[in-house]
Amino acid sequence: MAAATKKIKVAKASKPVKPAVLQAPKGMHDILPEDAWYWERVEQAVKDTAAFYGFDRIETPMLESVDLFVRGVGEATDIVEKEMYVLKTRGGDHLALRPEMTAPVMRAYIEHGLSRVSQPLQVYYFGPAFRHENPQAGRYREFYQMGFESVGGESDPVYDAEVIVAGARFLESLKLKNLAIQLNSIGCKTCRPNYRKKLQEFYKKEINAAKKTKVVCRDCERRLETNPLRLLDCKSEICANLKAQAPSILDNLCFSCRQHLKGVLEYLDEVGLPYSLNPYLVRGLDYYSRTVFEIFSDQSDLALMGGGRYDYLGEALSGKLIPAVGVAAGIERIIEVIKTNNLLPPKKSAEKIFVIHVGDLAKKKSFALIEQFRKENIKTAAALGKDSLQAQLKAADKEGSPFAIIIGQKEVYEESVIVRDMKTGGQETVPLKMIVETLKEKMRK
Ligand code: HAM
Repeated sequence: MAAATKKIKVAKASKPVKPAVLQAPKGMHDILPEDAWYWERVEQAVKDTAAFYGFDRIETPMLESVDLFVRGVGEATDIVEKEMYVLKTRGGDHLALRPEMTAPVMRAYIEHGLSRVSQPLQVYYFGPAFRHENPQAGRYREFYQMGFESVGGESDPVYDAEVIVAGARFLESLKLKNLAIQLNSIGCKTCRPNYRKKLQEFYKKEINAAKKTKVVCRDCERRLETNPLRLLDCKSEICANLKAQAPSILDNLCFSCRQHLKGVLEYLDEVGLPYSLNPYLVRGLDYYSRTVFEIFSDQSDLALMGGGRYDYLGEALSGKLIPAVGVAAGIERIIEVIKTNNLLPPKKSAEKIFVIHVGDLAKKKSFALIEQFRKENIKTAAALGKDSLQAQLKAADKEGSPFAIIIGQKEVYEESVIVRDMKTGGQETVPLKMIVETLKEKMRK
């Protein structure tokens, strides 16, 4: 019986290891219930403005082929070069989390042959976008964008003006005040290459003349070859002096781009929307031509909205020129302004009847009664997890309920309920079969 005498080894209970606290990925955030209301208000404002200006909803996938953004947004842009979240599927496809929605909208327009419907196609969207940026105030790695896009038809300045006006009206509907619209034209395939060359020549001459003194930052040294227009919106102090002396694109537009810009400004004047021309505004996406703009509010230093005309995006994706213009806004930035400036009245929740139980049997009956009330469209709250009468009355108070329905053992047997007026404390017994009627009457008053 050696086995019986053998000591059975009992594993020593190891100290429980405290699991590491998990957090949302850097630059990404949860939308908590206390904030969800702002998001609903903003999304509703997007829908209302879209309906008013005739934009229909479009949804595109969160993931798209990397190629869409490389060809659409531009290989030499920060977004594509440094900020895209890219993955390779098991099947070997290279996909990117969308960093923006304009290229996806154009992809969908081409893929589904949407040029067959009445033009321009006017669509809006509201959803998350992803950019691997350095997180800071107003700049996140996951953020929501809303946008209006007007795709197809003619390259008519009236459509540029229309998306600018719709964008501004959307912000105004959320009580954002003193909007500043900055606008520029970055020309077309005819005039931009000449301007680009002129700009490069200007900078090269100045850099050579300065010899060893640094007159442009390192980023701009690189951009001078790849994307010289971006030198105009460099924020570095080193670049400020030369930037101020650089030739202006507005003096170098071809006749039709000048006419186009004039047209946009005249339409904006017609509706009395103020703007200022900013010849340094070039925007960080390669697909733009002619109109580019950004909208600020005096309550924030960051652009709330940005957009422009992108007639060549369709060509880069399909070989066919597709005139288009649009605008997009960052929802987090808008909500930050709304919250810090108390622009919207606080949430007013609908008044609810509060159902209180005393005892197990009453708890079951309460559960059924709540369901009956909700079917009858009577907004109802309860604290079914709490059994003390005191605790439930406190919860009813906190909820701001005008009436509480109390059910105890006696009421269950008598098929009645107590209706308590939470303001006066007055109580009355009402037969169960009359309660829906009675409550509707009381709520009406
Ligand atoms: P965008 O200027 O890159 O343009 O972005 C539009 C808006 O999205 C910005 O004005 C800003 O409010 C918000 N935004 C951008 N990046 C971030 C970020 N990292 N964190 C928080 N908010 C951000 C576009 O995306 C173009 N697709 C706009 C457009 C539409 N052009 C024509 N149609």
